[in-house]
Amino acid sequence: MVETQLVVPSCASIPETVGCIGCGYVGSMTMIVLAYKNPHTRFVLADCNSRVISAYKAGLPPFHEPFLDEYMAGCRKHANIDFTTDTDAAVLAADILFVAVDTPSAPISKDPLDKFKHKGRKANLQRLKEVAARIGSVLVRKFAKTLIVLKSTMPIGAEEKFISHMSRAFVPDAPEPKFSLVCVPEFLAEGTAIHNLLHPDRIIIGGSRTAGPEDLRMVRGLYNWIDEKQVIYTDAHTAQLGKLAANAMLAQRVSSINSLTPICEMTDANIQDLKLILGSDSRIGPLFLNPSPGFGGSCFKKDILSLVYISEKLGLHEVAMYWNAVVELNEYQKRRLTERILATVPSSPGEPLRVCVLGASFKQGTSDTRESSSITVCTMLAEMGTEVHVFDPKATRERFLVEAEIQGIVLTLEAAERIKWFASPLEAARGARAVVILTDWEEFRLYDYADFYVAMEKPAYLFDYRRMLNADKVRTLGFVVNQLGAAGSQ
Ligand SMILES: NC(=O)c1ccc[n+]([C@@H]2O[C@H](COP(=O)([O-])OP(=O)(O)OC[C@H]3O[C@@H](n4cnc5c(N)ncnc54)[C@H](O)[C@@H]3O)[C@@H](O)[C@H]2O)c1
Repeated sequence: MVETQLVVPSCASIPETVGCIGCGYVGSMTMIVLAYKNPHTRFVLADCNSRVISAYKAGLPPFHEPFLDEYMAGCRKHANIDFTTDTDAAVLAADILFVAVDTPSAPISKDPLDKFKHKGRKANLQRLKEVAARIGSVLVRKFAKTLIVLKSTMPIGAEEKFISHMSRAFVPDAPEPKFSLVCVPEFLAEGTAIHNLLHPDRIIIGGSRTAGPEDLRMVRGLYNWIDEKQVIYTDAHTAQLGKLAANAMLAQRVSSINSLTPICEMTDANIQDLKLILGSDSRIGPLFLNPSPGFGGSCFKKDILSLVYISEKLGLHEVAMYWNAVVELNEYQKRRLTERILATVPSSPGEPLRVCVLGASFKQGTSDTRESSSITVCTMLAEMGTEVHVFDPKATRERFLVEAEIQGIVLTLEAAERIKWFASPLEAARGARAVVILTDWEEFRLYDYADFYVAMEKPAYLFDYRRMLNADKVRTLGFVVNQLGAAGSQ
């Protein structure tokens, strides 16, 4: 284990080649920014998904992220970034090899004990293990040393499993390949990823038992625009727990403010003023206090569940229950807000209820719909026979339905067909009885809701589940307004 009080040499040699396995959100964006900031280093980005690689090669990233195009153009100018499906080539070429494959929650298999044992909470390390085995099989024919940087979020101690899977490929009695391994968890947030990478709050570099100070410094050297004060050198286990705990605490704030929304609704207390009261306390701070239909994204839920699983494995049942409540509150919020739509809006006899949903991505600035509240709300509505007209500036219906399926939501064909996508928000609202705002896209504040009202069936309802609009103004247009956390909305 590397000590926290490391004496880290102050300069490091510049690597000739950096490789990365896994070109999803984290792998691609981290590498693009690093390539931009390290023009004299060559970057080889590998992914087993040929669709992803072809998209990057064609200069068309497979997802929307602000400023990504500009930074990709910058890298093209430096001519220092290549995309490939040949992961072995990336391993062979790399002095530093990043691993940024996905680590979702483990599926519950047909083994009935599975449900009892991990309840889908444990992190699925299958992809990490596959990559480890692949790297091991290449390292045996590589002479130069490889510094492996694990970027994926993982449970405490997963680096040892990684090393063990890698070394299964090593040849007994032959000299062991030269490698060292560090954990550098990523803290970027989708929608602001480039900004977060350029101005991170901190970089965590956690050494495994195989890493020495020069390895930590080598990784640190890539982040050449970051002040030394922002770098935290620690051990792998602290880095891994630090990442899980950071996501758990952020999600906990979302669930905490959301837990207060029904109390406000039932007591006529004002959630926006409450937000001010809490946020102006310097010990609490103002961020992550927006009431919402719940957190989403690929990370919060699975990382908290991973923490719950770790706690249970350690026999810490109260700790596990504490963190699990954050996820349960989130599910409750999504469910109760959907039930409210169904309980409030009447449908015309003989006709299905039509509802316009604004927002499918889990937050503004991204096309990512993984675990978005919109998936729960839209699929619940559709299952109850409602026609759901969705508009989102970036997210696609195809991805939305795939993500619903990955979440284990089994929609009937008829229900899936009831979820329709529209290219304009006004067209989505036409003929609908209610508009529901689910994602905080800035443009939703700017629409002319008078036009929506004219195009909708009457009485027309507006559910502002992101508190984006001035309720009094929208009410004067004729809408029956229902705002999250406001009296009369429960
Ligand atoms: N998305 C985020 O906002 C975010 C932020 C911080 C940390 N993380 C963590 O970073 C990791 C990656 O997340 P992501 O959102 O980038 O995932 P992702 O699903 O977008 O990307 C993972 C990529 O890895 C590729 N891959 C999987 N197995 C492979 C293999 N054997 N060989 C080559 N390529 C392989 C997949 O094809 C995919 O393109 C996860 O552990 C996640 O928890 C994500």
